[in-house]
Amino acid sequence: MDKKYFIKTYGCQMNFYDSNRLRKLLNKEGFFEVNSIEDSDIIILNTCSVRKHAEDRAFSFLSSIKSIKNNKIFCVIGCTPSIYKDKIFEKLDFVDIICGPNSYKKFVSTLKNYSGGKTSIFEEDENLLNEVNETEIKEKISSFVTITKGCENFCSYCVVPYARGKLVSKPENVIIDEIKILIDKGVKEIFLIGQNVNEYGKDIGENFVELLYKIHEIEGILRIGFLTSHPKDISNELINSFSELPKLYKHLHLPLQSGSNKILNLMNRKYTVERYLEIIEMVREKCPGISITSDIIVGFPYEEEIDFEETYKIVEKIKFDDLYVFKYSPRPLTKASKFPDNVPKEEKEKRHKIILNLQDKISLLRNKEMEGKIDEIFIRKKSYKIKNAYIGRTLNNKPVIIENVNVKEGEIIKVEIKKGERHYLYGILI
Ligand code: 5AD
Ligand code: SF4
Repeated sequence: MDKKYFIKTYGCQMNFYDSNRLRKLLNKEGFFEVNSIEDSDIIILNTCSVRKHAEDRAFSFLSSIKSIKNNKIFCVIGCTPSIYKDKIFEKLDFVDIICGPNSYKKFVSTLKNYSGGKTSIFEEDENLLNEVNETEIKEKISSFVTITKGCENFCSYCVVPYARGKLVSKPENVIIDEIKILIDKGVKEIFLIGQNVNEYGKDIGENFVELLYKIHEIEGILRIGFLTSHPKDISNELINSFSELPKLYKHLHLPLQSGSNKILNLMNRKYTVERYLEIIEMVREKCPGISITSDIIVGFPYEEEIDFEETYKIVEKIKFDDLYVFKYSPRPLTKASKFPDNVPKEEKEKRHKIILNLQDKISLLRNKEMEGKIDEIFIRKKSYKIKNAYIGRTLNNKPVIIENVNVKEGEIIKVEIKKGERHYLYGILI
């Protein structure tokens, strides 16, 4: 059978990691990647269902390429098939193979022997997290490493527990071996990823903060980041690690979701606004200069003007370094999908815009505060837009553009921040 594959990935870091792992599995079996759909024999879409918008984008992309099917094999993998199962075939009759996010080894062996017909693959691979994953490294010096799969927090709006199953942690020695392999290949920056990394190890008697300390010891690693965190699981030990581990990015992504206790309760988030504020205060006290980013959902069921105003006030008070704002969309199987979706679309749009505008001002302010500071910048890549410039990351994980420097990707250099804009800082080598 012909072996040229084209892969397109939607969604979160987890999906991008999974796609890189799948690339490795496919390449080992003699398949090879092409960058054009026309040239491919196999089309693979790694999908996301966390918000309706992401799902719609993947479906409309698929429909737009339907006409070039010929003998190509169309595969839909990841979270979307995990939720809709064989209904995908009803909606998109030209799809051949569907596969859930925990079955990529079975997917590769199915492809190897594929001779036609609709095929669904949902049975989990053996040793899913118990063996070292190899991944194709896309960015040479930086890599994600998945440390958990799944989530069982059941936030009422969230489809992840249904799409990715129960929380399962990768054993510490497997993670460390995986990182060492990456370092040997030239990677210098690692982002540990999981739906809620703070819960890492709960199921296997291990602990996230201890894992961080062990990873910090690995020779050759220069920077470590992690996401995402859940406010209900933030510990004092984690807060202390920011100041105790020099290679750890001073950055915490801590989704707030809403500034109203009524809505947080309906969302099943298991913390209050007061507790959230307490965490922020502690984190900033223990680690001055840390950057804190967050997620907000506007237009959740029963979100009244007064609830939204509370969110506005909290965002104004906390002054996040950056914020991702989402309009609520009901997701299949979730508890909230049984609530009435009773905030009108126009109102969701209005609230979305209001928070985004507020955040634009705050992020600009935050970045301006960095002006004049001297920081150690980790050089990530060459800028595509600006000639002779590199993009790096401050120690609090903000992107900096440095012009006219002679550096290499993966180096750390001392830079003075000259200017802060909404999305970027600008610095000069000192
Ligand atoms: N509607 C809107 N936003 C959502 N998110 C998760 N589920 C939904 C949904 N049904 C957002 C949350 C989460 C981020 C990854 O996506 O803010 O933190
Ligand atoms: Fe979804 Fe909540 Fe789990 Fe995050 S913690 S993946 S929002 S259920």
